[in-house]
Amino acid sequence: MTTHASAETTALPTAMTVWSQHRYGDADAVAPEDVPVPSPGPHEVLVRVHATGLNSADARVMRGDPLILRLAFGLRRPRAAVQGRDIAGTVVGAGAAVTTLQVGDAVLGETTGGGLAPFVVVPAARLVRRPEGLDDLVAATLPMAGGTAWQALALAGIDDAAARGARVLIVGAGGGVGHFTVQLAALRGAEVTALAGPRALAMVTALGASSALEHRRTDLSQLAAASFDAVVVIAGDHPLRQLRRLVVPGGTVVLVSGGSRPVIGPLAVIARAMVLSVFGSRHLRPLVATAKPEITAELARLAAAGEITPHIERVWPLAHARAALAHIDAAHTVGKVVVRGI
Ligand SMILES: NC(=O)c1ccc[n+]([C@@H]2O[C@H](COP(=O)([O-])OP(=O)(O)OC[C@H]3O[C@@H](n4cnc5c(N)ncnc54)[C@H](OP(=O)(O)O)[C@@H]3O)[C@@H](O)[C@H]2O)c1
Repeated sequence: MTTHASAETTALPTAMTVWSQHRYGDADAVAPEDVPVPSPGPHEVLVRVHATGLNSADARVMRGDPLILRLAFGLRRPRAAVQGRDIAGTVVGAGAAVTTLQVGDAVLGETTGGGLAPFVVVPAARLVRRPEGLDDLVAATLPMAGGTAWQALALAGIDDAAARGARVLIVGAGGGVGHFTVQLAALRGAEVTALAGPRALAMVTALGASSALEHRRTDLSQLAAASFDAVVVIAGDHPLRQLRRLVVPGGTVVLVSGGSRPVIGPLAVIARAMVLSVFGSRHLRPLVATAKPEITAELARLAAAGEITPHIERVWPLAHARAALAHIDAAHTVGKVVVRGI
């Protein structure tokens, strides 16, 4: 294999095989492609990818579903041809203006795609150092799903100061975002009721839920009104009025997921939530989570200390990344799915 070297990089291959797509579609739209190893711009670093955590966002961009998402991610094909947003790896090259990281640093972070590859270029500001003792595979589970859980609980008022004893219902507790929401809420002292699929019930209980209910056997309209201080909705198409009656006056329903309409996605639910929130004292708050490296750093610290325990359902090697995307696309993941890099 040919290699090149520069002032910033150690000897690296000049070409690599990535999993890319040039049309929207299911996992069959994704195929191996040989491309040059990219060079970092002034504020970027080149990372050797050791692990990529997959999220439902990867499947949504892969499919261009809902259609409205294509306005942001590419009208005819995804601008990010390579999926895989959460990465853990080692810095192997750094742009001239990068002062926060250097070659050899172990890092993790949420990118805008490109993780299903041996190398990826990332703005340095998106990455944080991986603490000692935190495995790459575990680190790669954290940024997007853990960050979304963190931001959802903040919107629900379940932060360190106010969470102790708060009663929280988590709808969709068994997937990536859900299982982080369960354990972060429990860690802060909340009393967690988790609604999850049958394969996830033991996991959410082990992660701190005091009650675990199977979602296909639970009718939310049968739960007593005002049973919770907060409800975090990560899955399902429950009517907003039904969700809102479950919280106490002054309580909050956080909408992480807004249903699955094929064209406009969650927009209709977000609009209804805003209108309904004008009336009464129970809040409906849609979440638009963003990449926040400071939260990733805190999640990494908690995971390294054993205070949170990401659950990895399955690890695929990079050579089988398409199967990992298909698994995420099926939307029955328990915890997280990770692709092992090089
Ligand atoms: N607002 C934001 O900024 C933001 C950020 C990140 C993610 N999200 C959204 O959050 C959602 C979850 O993402 P994720 O990556 O965590 O997905 P995921 O890992 O694929 O979650 C799948 C899990 O959800 C469970 N589930 C499906 N329907 C359910 C229901 N009605 N009640 C309870 N559990 C149910 C599944 O259980 P079964 O196997 O039993 O079906 C499975 O365990 C997605 O809709 C995603 O788009 C939003």
